Amino acid sequence: MQTIRTVDELRAVLAGHRRAGRTIGLVPTMGALHEGHLALVRAAAAGADVVVMSLFVNPTQFNDAGDLAAYPRDETRDAELADGAGVDVLFAPAVEEVYPTGFATTISVGGVSERLEGAHRPGHFDGVALVVTKLFGMVRPDVAWFGQKDAQQVAVVRRVVADLDLGVRIETVPTVREPDGLALSSRNVRLGAEDRVRALALR
Ligand code: PAF
Repeated sequence: MQTIRTVDELRAVLAGHRRAGRTIGLVPTMGALHEGHLALVRAAAAGADVVVMSLFVNPTQFNDAGDLAAYPRDETRDAELADGAGVDVLFAPAVEEVYPTGFATTISVGGVSERLEGAHRPGHFDGVALVVTKLFGMVRPDVAWFGQKDAQQVAVVRRVVADLDLGVRIETVPTVREPDGLALSSRNVRLGAEDRVRALALR
């Protein structure tokens, strides 16, 4: 597995794969990998010749600075898991690589992003739409894989791909759960004992 931090290097590596006729699959993540992410990687490895995983904690989708600061980060562990699951290229850019000085573009997705989680996290899905569009521009994948757990996110991504003619096929993978039914999530480590029990209502 190659770890790449810049868009220039990423483009050069992927151009070689494209010239060789290989299809490119993308698994976008914010790291803190768990079995749900690895299921996405396995699906991508079965469906594309080259699997790129992005590992980027995207600041524009956090509407709460405390939540961004507390988001779990462990790149060494993530890289080991990604490599073991079949990732070929780990794209782990710095924030300035994705949002350089002067960056001024926003994407606002109406309708589908306004209800449910979107109603409680203003701007969240606009940030997701922005970074996913950026990642699609950087990687130019044939296919990208997302978890069904984030159903509204999938609907938003599908909307953006259709509206902006991004030409990326979107595939989904079923939610991976703990034995008691709790959906795996990077944020589960932040649940206290009481909230961990209450979370089981979401099944
Ligand atoms: O689902 C996530 O982890 C993130 O929202 C995504 C799609 C990687 C964009 O930052």
